[in-house]
Amino acid sequence: MPSTKPQTPSPQTAEVWSGRFSEPVSEQVKIYTASVDFDQRLAFADIDGSLAHAKMLAHVGVLTAADLSDIERGLAQIRDEIARGAFVWSVDLEDVHLNIEKRLTALVGDAGKRLHTGRSRNDQIATDIRLWLRDAIDHLLNQLQALREAFIDQAGKHADTVMPGFTHLQVAQPVTFGHHLMAYEAMFARDAERLRDARRRVNRMPLGAAALAGTGYPIDREYAARLLGFEAVCPNSLDAVSDRDFAIEFSAAATLIMMHLSRLSEELVLWSSPRFGFIQIADRFCTGSSIMPQKKNPDVPELVRGKTGRVVGHLMGLITLMKSQPLAYNKDNQEDKEPLFDTVDTLAATLSIMADLIANGLTAVPERMRAAALEGYATATDLADYLVRRGLPFRDAHEAVARAVREAETRNVTLEALPLDVLQTFSPLIQKDVFEVLTLEGSVASRNHIGGTAPEQVRKAATAARARLEREKAD
Ligand code: ARG
Repeated sequence: MPSTKPQTPSPQTAEVWSGRFSEPVSEQVKIYTASVDFDQRLAFADIDGSLAHAKMLAHVGVLTAADLSDIERGLAQIRDEIARGAFVWSVDLEDVHLNIEKRLTALVGDAGKRLHTGRSRNDQIATDIRLWLRDAIDHLLNQLQALREAFIDQAGKHADTVMPGFTHLQVAQPVTFGHHLMAYEAMFARDAERLRDARRRVNRMPLGAAALAGTGYPIDREYAARLLGFEAVCPNSLDAVSDRDFAIEFSAAATLIMMHLSRLSEELVLWSSPRFGFIQIADRFCTGSSIMPQKKNPDVPELVRGKTGRVVGHLMGLITLMKSQPLAYNKDNQEDKEPLFDTVDTLAATLSIMADLIANGLTAVPERMRAAALEGYATATDLADYLVRRGLPFRDAHEAVARAVREAETRNVTLEALPLDVLQTFSPLIQKDVFEVLTLEGSVASRNHIGGTAPEQVRKAATAARARLEREKAD
């Protein structure tokens, strides 16, 4: 059991704020409230923020040039120590901010103690997270591009490959595999759009809000914002230190990406199952079973589906964290970091492995796709449309074709295998040219408009998507 008797404060313990306390914080409370184990991940953002703050203070005459140069020298050394893994993190110093500040003071003396002038850990942490998240978003956007490129490449190769399209997981109409792949490219293109949009609201600077009300020093927030590459400053100090809506918004965008990856994964699992056999997933993305020698399991897509749950959970966690907090800063907000970090880590790892799988680990089996499309009377709608073109109202055509399908089912054959005279019993409008529309190729080729499944359209969509991707890379 932790001791309850008053202890002598350790020389380090919370000395930055313990002046008014009559006893040191208990060991248990110290550990419970500390965040350094996880927020040390923000160290470089914290140093960048401190440098900009110090430069701004010198710019407005609150710090001397000598103090600024000491601070810059000290922070450069600390950055180097952290990069080399030589920095000693101490839980006694609670968080990333106090660890760095304490070390700075040890290195450069009083200048280190002046750094926190006109600043609070409240605006400091909000600034750190935004800087860190901005970088993370840029990395994720690059990863999304790689994934989209993989889809576009594969779609180009499979613009003519016919597979059954499904609704209700029942064979519906023939589509091209390239068209199906481009559906995912469209989803991930929107996801990238969402991330870029969220980034604009992440990229606003809380620094200068201080604890909650601003500061009496003659600070120049716009100056610091320019140094840090922020698009703007947060316009209200109370809001700046308290809201984490930018993290929630990011988390929602991340959730949608995982949701799309999860749907893709579900299809990869189905398609690679021997019952479908539409694709093969390269062995290096699969594992075997320790008991069933014949097994090859699609672990990667299964795990993607599974990991989607934790990202959704983090979104719920962040919303719940925020929803009951009065203005302004509350310690609750310390709990925003782990879900945010795990969301970024999970998404980054997932995007990386899925881009590799789609680009290099996926082999289509066109014969199996074709056989499945033939089995499901997938061209029944085409036959109905054929009759409509010959003057039959669509509802009557639907009825005639339904009866033809039933007949084919009884004979256990495909629609195109029914002899012409049998087909004609369902409608005298049916002529010899009907067999052109009953083929899978005829069916997909006829859907030749923007967004349709015709090979020609798939090629156009892939070209347009590639051009859009290049434009995005350029700006
Ligand atoms: N560790 C804190 C957080 O993550 C930093 C801000 C602490 N501010 C304070 N007044 N205790 O939110």
